[in-house]
Amino acid sequence: MRDDQTYYITTPIYYVNGLPHIGHAYTTIAADVATRYMRQKGRFVRFLTGTDEHGQKVMEKATQRGMSPKAHCDDMVVHWKEMWSKLDIQYDHFIRTTDPHHMQGVSQVLTRLWGEDLIYKAEYTGWYSVREEIFVTEKEVESGAWKKEDLQQITETNYFFRMSRFQAQLIEAIQERPDFIQPASRRNEVLGFLRKPLEDLCISRPKSRMSWGIELPFDRDYVTYVWFDALLNYLTGVGYPDHETLVWEKWWPASYHLVGKDILTTHAVYWSTMLLALGLPLPQTLYAHGWWKSADGEKMSKSLGNTIDVGLLADAFGVDASRFFFLREIAFGADGGFSYQGFLTRYNADLANDLGNMVHRGLSMTQNWFESKVPARGALTDAEVELEALATRGGAAYDEAMEGLQFHRALDSTWELVRAANKYIDTAAPWALNKQGNTERLATVLRTVLEIAALVAAMLLPFMPSKATELLSKLGETPARAAARLNGALAAGAVTLDALPEGQALTLGEPLFPRYREMPEAIAALFTAAAPEPPPAKPEKSKKKAKAVAEPPTEIAYDDFAKVALRTGVVRAAARHPSADRLLVLQVDIGEEKPRQIVAGIATRFKPEELVGRAVVVVANLAPVDLRGVQSQGMLLAAGGAEVLDLVRADAPPGEVVR
Ligand code: MSP
Repeated sequence: MRDDQTYYITTPIYYVNGLPHIGHAYTTIAADVATRYMRQKGRFVRFLTGTDEHGQKVMEKATQRGMSPKAHCDDMVVHWKEMWSKLDIQYDHFIRTTDPHHMQGVSQVLTRLWGEDLIYKAEYTGWYSVREEIFVTEKEVESGAWKKEDLQQITETNYFFRMSRFQAQLIEAIQERPDFIQPASRRNEVLGFLRKPLEDLCISRPKSRMSWGIELPFDRDYVTYVWFDALLNYLTGVGYPDHETLVWEKWWPASYHLVGKDILTTHAVYWSTMLLALGLPLPQTLYAHGWWKSADGEKMSKSLGNTIDVGLLADAFGVDASRFFFLREIAFGADGGFSYQGFLTRYNADLANDLGNMVHRGLSMTQNWFESKVPARGALTDAEVELEALATRGGAAYDEAMEGLQFHRALDSTWELVRAANKYIDTAAPWALNKQGNTERLATVLRTVLEIAALVAAMLLPFMPSKATELLSKLGETPARAAARLNGALAAGAVTLDALPEGQALTLGEPLFPRYREMPEAIAALFTAAAPEPPPAKPEKSKKKAKAVAEPPTEIAYDDFAKVALRTGVVRAAARHPSADRLLVLQVDIGEEKPRQIVAGIATRFKPEELVGRAVVVVANLAPVDLRGVQSQGMLLAAGGAEVLDLVRADAPPGEVVR
C-alpha cells in the first residue's frame, strides 16, 4: 500500500490511430507539472503514460496504411514519444498495451475472474460504436446521445464481466469519499448515472470479427475488449501482478488518474468495479478535466480543419510558454476555447509584460547601481513587510492549489506576487532613491524585487522548467536550491525575502520572453495557406491558342542540373501517412546501407501495396524535411502536374546514377 510520501499519477493511454493533439498534450502536461512539483517537494513519484494499441480502430488504421497492426503501432509510438520529449514531459514509464508484461497481467486477471465466476459467456445483440470502442445500450441510443450512423448493430456470443454485482458497493464508495471523483460536479454526474441499474460489461470480441487484442486464456477464439485491456494498464504499469523488479504494492492505489470528462464513466464505473472484483483499493482521485474547443466553442476535429498543432505552437512560442498557457488559461476541470490570438495576448500580458518587466527592472537597475551583485537588505518598511506577508499567503495558497491540481489557482497566486512586485517598484521608485543618493533604501528595494523573482522562479519550475531555470541562473541560483528554500518556507509557514546571498553575482542577459508584436511567421502562414486561391485570370485572346501547348520552361545552365543527384531505386515498403491523406511513406532502396524514408504526395494515384517492388528514380541529395511529423529524405520523380499520372522508372539495379 502506497504511503504518504509516495505519489502515483497517470494519464489515459492514448489510441495510436492518430498523432498527439492538443487534448492529449493538455493532460500529459498537467500530469508532468504535478509530477515535477511533487518531486520538487521530495515525494517519491511515479508518472505513467503510454499508448492504447489494441482494438478495431487501430487495426483499421493499420490496414489503411498497408501495415500489420504491430508494425503500425511501433511506428506511431515513436511519434508519441517524440512529442512528449519535445514538450519536456518526464514520465517514469511509457506503457504499451502490446508490452508482454501487460498482456500477461491482463491474461492473469481474466483467468482469476473467470475462475471466480465473475466472467460468463452469453449471446449479445446490440449497438457498437467503433469510434469510442464501446457497446451502447438501447436506452442510450433512445436517449439520442448517439448518432445511429455512428453505430453498428451486432449479434454475437461474447464474454461478460459481472459489473452489475458491484453497483451498490461502488455507490457506497463514491458517497463515502468526496475526493474520489473530482471536480464535485462530475461526481454528481457519476452518481446520477448509477441511479439506473448497471448492466454487465461485454469484455470480448470474437477473433473472426476482430483479432487485434489479447487472447482470452479460457477461449482462444476470443480476444479481450479494448477498455478491459486498457484500464488494467494502471496496475500492470507499476508491475502488477508479479513483475520481477517493480513492486506494484508500493504505488497502488494511484494518487490521481487524470482523464478527460468524456472517459470519466469508463474509469469511475468500469475501472472501479474491476478493482472491486479484484479486491483492490480504488484510486484516491479520478480527476476529470474539460475539453479544449475552438474559440467559437466548436469541437476540434480533423474534418472541421480546426485542430491545433501543438508541436508548431511550441516551435513558434516556445515549449515553456505553451505548457504555461494551457494550465493558466482555464481552470483544470472546465472547458476552454483556444485561439492563436488569445495565446499571443496572454503571452504578451503575463510573460513578456508582467514577469518579463519585473525581472528586467530588478536586474537592470542592480546592474546600473550595484555592479550586478545582490544588494544588502537594510531596515524594512511597511511595504516590505506587506510583501513578505503576501509571499507567505501566496506560497501557502500555491502549495494547496498544486496539491489539488488547481494549476490556474497556483498560477494566480504566483502572478499576484509578480504584479505586487511591479507595483512596489512603481511606488518605491528606485530611480528617485538613486537620485537622492539614498543607497541603503535603494539596496533594500532592489533586493526585495530580486527575492520575489527567485521565489516566483521556484514556483514556476514545474510549469516552465527551462525558463524558470534560466531565470534562476540570472540570479546566480539553481533549481535545487530554489526548490529547497520554497519547501523550507512552506514547512515553516513563513516566506522571508532574504534568501539570496548578499554579493552574489547576477546576469542581466537576454529577455526571458521577447514580446511578439505580430503573430510568429509559422503560425501566420497557417492562415495564409488556408486562404482561398485567387480566381484564375481571364485568358487573353492571343494566349487562348497556346493553351494546349505547355509553356517552355526557363533555361538553366548544365552546372545547375548537375547539382541534382538522381539515383535509381526500388520501393521496399509503403504505408499511408499517419495523418495526411494525400501522402504515402515509402522505404526506398537506393543501394545504400539502409532504405531511405521518402514521403510522397501520391496517395491519390497509388495504393501502398501497388508500390512495393516498383522501380523508381529518386532525387537523392535534397535536404531532409519534416512532412506532417514524418521525416522525408528525398523525392521521387513523377509525371503530371498538380495531379500525379505516373512515377518515373528505370530498369536498372538500385543506386545507379541517372543523368
Ligand atoms: N484509449 C482511451 C483511453 C484509455 S485509458 C485506460 C482514449 N484515448 S484517446 O486517445 O482517444 O483520448 C485520450 C484523452 O484525450 C481523453 O482523456 C480525452 O478526454 C482527451 N481529449 C481528446 N480531445 C480533447 C480535447 N479537445 N480537449 C481536452 N482533452 C481531450 O480515450
